[in-house]
Order: sequence, then structure tokens, then C-alpha cells
Amino acid sequence: MCGIFGYIGPKTNAAKMVIEGLKSLEYRGYDSWGIALKTDNDIIVYKKTGKVGEINKLPKNLLGKTELAIGHTRWATHGGVTNANAHPHFTENKEIVLIHNGIFENYFEVKKQLLRKGHKFTSETDTEVIAHLIQENLKRHDFEQSVKNAIKKIEGRYAIVIIHKNENKIIAARRGSPLIVGVGKNGEYYIASDVPAFLKYTKKVMYLDNDQMVILSENSAKFYEIKTHKEIHKKMIEIGWDSQTAEKGAYAHFMLKEIMEQKETLYRAINQDDRLIKKVADAINNACGTYFVGCGTAGKVCLTAEYLFSEIAHKHVNSIFGSEFPTHHHFITNKTLLIPISQSGETADTLEAIEVAKEVGAKIISIVNVETSTMARMSDLIIPVKCGPEKAVASTKVTTAQMAILILLAYASIEKLSEGKILLLETAEKINDMLNPGYVMHIFKLAEKLKNFESMYIIGRGANYPMALESAIKLQEVSYIHAEGFAAGELKHGPIALIQKNTPCIVLVGENGSKSAILSNAMEVRARGGYIIGVSPTHEEVFDYWIRVPEVSIASPIVNIIPIQILAYQLAILRKNNPDMPRNLAKSVTVK
Ligand code: AGP
Ligand code: GLU
Repeated sequence: MCGIFGYIGPKTNAAKMVIEGLKSLEYRGYDSWGIALKTDNDIIVYKKTGKVGEINKLPKNLLGKTELAIGHTRWATHGGVTNANAHPHFTENKEIVLIHNGIFENYFEVKKQLLRKGHKFTSETDTEVIAHLIQENLKRHDFEQSVKNAIKKIEGRYAIVIIHKNENKIIAARRGSPLIVGVGKNGEYYIASDVPAFLKYTKKVMYLDNDQMVILSENSAKFYEIKTHKEIHKKMIEIGWDSQTAEKGAYAHFMLKEIMEQKETLYRAINQDDRLIKKVADAINNACGTYFVGCGTAGKVCLTAEYLFSEIAHKHVNSIFGSEFPTHHHFITNKTLLIPISQSGETADTLEAIEVAKEVGAKIISIVNVETSTMARMSDLIIPVKCGPEKAVASTKVTTAQMAILILLAYASIEKLSEGKILLLETAEKINDMLNPGYVMHIFKLAEKLKNFESMYIIGRGANYPMALESAIKLQEVSYIHAEGFAAGELKHGPIALIQKNTPCIVLVGENGSKSAILSNAMEVRARGGYIIGVSPTHEEVFDYWIRVPEVSIASPIVNIIPIQILAYQLAILRKNNPDMPRNLAKSVTVK
């Protein structure tokens, strides 16, 4: 969760670069931040709670010349949000400084041993224990060996970056949490949790894989396997994204920018190599059980797969949240197909599901936006989502693009790929027309009406049921309004007791087959005083407020979720929340 950024090289304003890099990583964690700068024979650390500071407000000693600096934005797991718990963490003798992403699962036992040896801790974090473990090793070993010895003791997923006051190098290591090395000009190197952090300086990257470490000095990047200390020769990869796609441009927030980008992203997602889509469809047809696995919003997209394959291809596929997958491992064999769905490709729970499935030899084909992510590298094959960087914590453009790919696959599995493509091209065209200023204003008027409510409900049927669940996530994440999604038919079995006079209920109307049933469910809510917001191609008597969406038959989950994304964004603004950085959340959840 957390963002890591580091720089070593000839540029003398490393501190400024690290702070800018951290700002671009804030979507990964933003409860506190800190930087460490190496001076001649010393390290200066500055850390604070809250969002990354402005360069011109920083203490002067941070703005001196330095060619080596590291920084961190924290998403607290162990210890409250305080200055002392913020990273970087020094050792007692101020010899080394460390930043960390992840959880040191066995930290408590190790801390007890170190306390017995006389170590004194200044924070409540698991991270500080790693720093002390390295310090303990430094009594007998050199810097590199000490880091290696220490990380061998860490259980859990981590990415760590360490500097030593007397050495002009950055040592970094990872297991589970992402770390990418950017290769700049004139022997300079960047290291970060995500590529956009250094995209304006370089597009050339080298990936650190699990249980590997890298030693960055000016002019050299040496990669090693931690266990064997065997040197590894890494391939340099050129990233296709440009730095502008990772910027907000004229938009007030990334979330709004990314919602609006859905005018084009669907076209890009549909524009797949037919041979790839057919190959994956064949794999689904031939597998003994296909499991779609994802978390949060991606988990809802997985659930949509069950309905889309049933409706389009009359075929059963399974969907399950990443965190629940390990309990299903008894059903997984080497004939199972696992299709992880993810924006980041770094979600720990989904990666763990892949590990579990790989252990028995299942095939892994992921639908992933970040094509160079850990997930992509763990997969036998990937279908790229092609949306470019998605930076707002709340996923929008990637969600709809992933569903478009599912529709392509479902049609391809019955050898009707071109029919699926035509439907999706028409859908993309209609979304392009739909996303106009008048449409956004119409939803803004609704947001004005709803902004003071503390609860709302969303109902859907068929493939729109997962979208009711997804609508709830969107509203919860950025508006902080209590929102819950239900299968419309389930309402009468309990939740309808929650409906009072004026309780808002959003009704996602699907394709014709389920329309009359969901309108009856809406009637039941209205009869109990509910305020009915209909998301539907046609106006219906039961609606108190109508949001028109285009008629796109089975692709309706794609168009129905878009007005809810806009509504969630506008509610966040009206309730004075920052939609790009919702409280307690982080874009990429790299802890279990
Ligand atoms: C999306 O709005 C959420 N912030 C979150 O549920 C997200 O979808 C989930 O953490 C999975 O992320 P991934 O797609 O990067 O794997
Ligand atoms: N576990 C560490 C902490 O709580 C790191 C959290 C993070 O990844 O930001 O400080």
C-alpha cells in the first residue's frame, strides 16, 4: 500500500525529485510521508503526518545539494498515524535509514529478541524492527550482507529500500510488494513502487521480482537472487505510457478525468488481437473449471463474468474474491483455468490466489491493466486492458474496459466474436455521446438532492446485480455515504425493512428480460416511501428521478455503472471530500 521513491545519480536536486515523485504516488497511501537525504557522511530525515509537503515550505537543510535520496508515503498497518511511525526509520546509531512497504508478519518475536539485546525503539511499527535487525548484523558484516541476513528473517510480503550514511548506494529488496527500477541518463537510477512516479524522467525500466535485491550506485544497477546471491541479468523494458497520461491535465481530479476517458478506453479495450481472444476463449471451453478471481471492484467484475457467460454463452464459470480463494484450493487441479482480473496487477490477495493455483499447475490467464505488473509476469498469458494509468483510488475506466473484455470472451467462446465486437463498438459510440456536459449536470442536480442522506441502496438483477454491488463501493469510497447493493429480488426477503420515507434507492434496469421484474421491485420500494432513481434507457412511471442510459442489451452493466461513478464523484465534491484520496484507502492493496 504506500509509495516508495528513490534516486541516485548526478542530478543534485534529488530531494526535490523525491518529493515530486512521492506526490505522484500519494494515491498509494497518504496518511504520512517522509524523506531521507544523504549528505557527505550523514543522513537527514524529515517526516510528517498528512499529505506530502510543498517544496517551498520545507526546512532549508532539505533543499541543499544531494545526489541520493529516498522517500515514502505511508498507509499505516502497524502503529497509528504519527510523526514517529512515519517512514523513513533510522537505527539508533543513525547509521542506516529504511523505508518499507508491506507487513513484517513475525516482527513481534524479532522485536522481543532485539529488546533483550538492548535495542531501543522509537516507533510502534514493524518497519523499525527491520532497521534494527540490519543494525545488529552490521556489527559483524558489511552493509550488503547485513541487509541480506536481515531480510531472510522477514515473513510476509515486503518492499524495502535502505541507505547507509557512509555508502553511495541504495539497496532494495522485494517479496510481493512492487519495486521498479527506472534507468535514466548518465548513469542515474530511480526506484519506485509504480512507473508513473519517474515517467517524466525515463521510460526505461527493469523489474525486481520476488526474492530479489538490487544494489544501485551511480553507473550501475546490480540485481541478485537473495537466497543464492547469484547475479541476474535483467532485460530493460521500454514503457508505452507517456507522462501526460499520468497527469490530471485540465481536470480537477483524476477520478473525473478517468470517468471522462471512458469515451475512448472502451475502444482501446475492444481493440484486441482476435487470435488472443479466441485462444483464451478456447482455454475457457477446454478447462475443467474456470475461476475468475479479483478483489473489490475487480471482484465485482469477476461476478459479472458468471452472468455474462451464462447469458451469452450458456456456460458456467466461477467467480471468487482473491481473499476467499485459498479456501477453494481443493477444487483446483492442473486442468483448472484461473483468470485473475486486476487494474494494478499488484493486489496481494489476488496474487496469493495465483500462487495457490500455480502450485497445482493450473493455467493462469490474467486480464490486467498494468502489463508489466507482478501479476502479468506470473501469468501464462495476459489480455491487456489498455486503459493507461488509472490513478484515482476509485476504479472507473478500467472497470468498464474489463467488462468489455469479458463480453468479447463470452462471444468468442461460442464463435461469435464479431457479433460481440459490433455490440461493444456500438456501446462505445453511445458512451461517447452520453458523456456530455448536460448529462453530467443532470447527475449533479441529483447529487445536490442526495448530499445530506446518510444511507442509500442500489438494486440490480442479472449482470446488473454485481453492478449494484459495485455502485455501493463507488459511493462508499468517495462520498462516505452508507450505500448497499442488493439483488433486487432479495430485497423483499429482509432489506426492505430499511426503507423509510424518502430513502434513496437506485434501480439499475437491465436488458429487456429482467426489466419488468426489477420495475416491480422498484414499485415495492416506492410503496414503502422510497425515492426511486432509475438508471434506464426508458423513462418509467415508478421513477422519481430518471438517469437515461443508452440501450445496449447485454452490455448494460457497462453503461449503467458510469452515471453512478459520476454521482459518487459529485457527492464527494459536495461533501468536501477529496475523491482522489479517500480516507483509509489506498489504490493498490499490497497487504493481505
Ligand atoms: C476500486 O474502486 C477499489 N479502490 C478497489 O476495490 C480495487 O478495485 C481493488 O483493491 C482491486 O484492485 P486491482 O484491480 O488493482 O487488483
Ligand atoms: N507496515 C508498515 C507500517 O505500518 C508499512 C506500511 C506501508 O506499506 O505503508 O508502517
